[in-house]
Amino acid sequence: MDWGMKNRLSRIIKADGKTVMLAVDHGYFLGPTTGLEKPWETIEPLVPYADCLMLTRGMLRSCVPPEVDIPIVLRVSGGTSIVGPELLHEGIIASIEDAIRLNVSGLAFSILVGADYERDTLLAFSEICDMGQEYGIPVLAVTAVGREMVRDAKYLALASRIAAEIGAHMVKTYYCEDFRKVVEGCPVPIVIAGGKKIPEKDALQMAYNAIQEGAIGVDMGRNIFQSSNPQAMIKAVRAVVHENATPDEAYEIFLKEGKE
Ligand code: R5P
Repeated sequence: MDWGMKNRLSRIIKADGKTVMLAVDHGYFLGPTTGLEKPWETIEPLVPYADCLMLTRGMLRSCVPPEVDIPIVLRVSGGTSIVGPELLHEGIIASIEDAIRLNVSGLAFSILVGADYERDTLLAFSEICDMGQEYGIPVLAVTAVGREMVRDAKYLALASRIAAEIGAHMVKTYYCEDFRKVVEGCPVPIVIAGGKKIPEKDALQMAYNAIQEGAIGVDMGRNIFQSSNPQAMIKAVRAVVHENATPDEAYEIFLKEGKE
């Protein structure tokens, strides 16, 4: 691995080997998602507690001041929407030149294993891996799951392993029962998505379980920015990821921070 690749990876994965990625890319297929209607109003108070931001180039350019010191993982797959007929047929939506211009630390691309257009998304993903390799930019594979697919360890291990085989430097997947099997079958670091908003205590428990079972962190969105107190929630998630806080300890942090 060359210096640039290592340097960018070290901006995403911190010295303790862990990361709290804040996912705020949802608008690329969902439009103005609840909590992200005015993106910077939501993101700004969370920046000091996030290790990096995952978002699209449009949001980065129009909503994030360029002076802000936070590593960026740029979503480079999309081109479909929640209301269109081909949600699970994403393609490449940003060039490597633009990613370099934006000074990003990583690229994120969804693979749709098991969906009708699986092959298209995997071949496009391999192109992104080639580009990332050429310019020293790590690639995060997002194992997106269609409505009809089961988020169990068998499926998520399959999708995660395929991502690593094609060239992912990191994989984002979902927490599930027997999550350790997903981690064991995947030779590159894994982070978990948060998924739909659930009670804060449950989200902290899920993050804790994932870390105990081998995840190196989270790439969490809605369970942070749709929380009743997003800043308190990201502090609590941070404690789980970086300080080995138990779910009870982290929930205490959430409650305490919420009162201040
Ligand atoms: C979906 O593919 C998007 O990349 C989201 O960033 C991802 O699902 C993580 O966000 P959440 O924690 O809200 O699921």
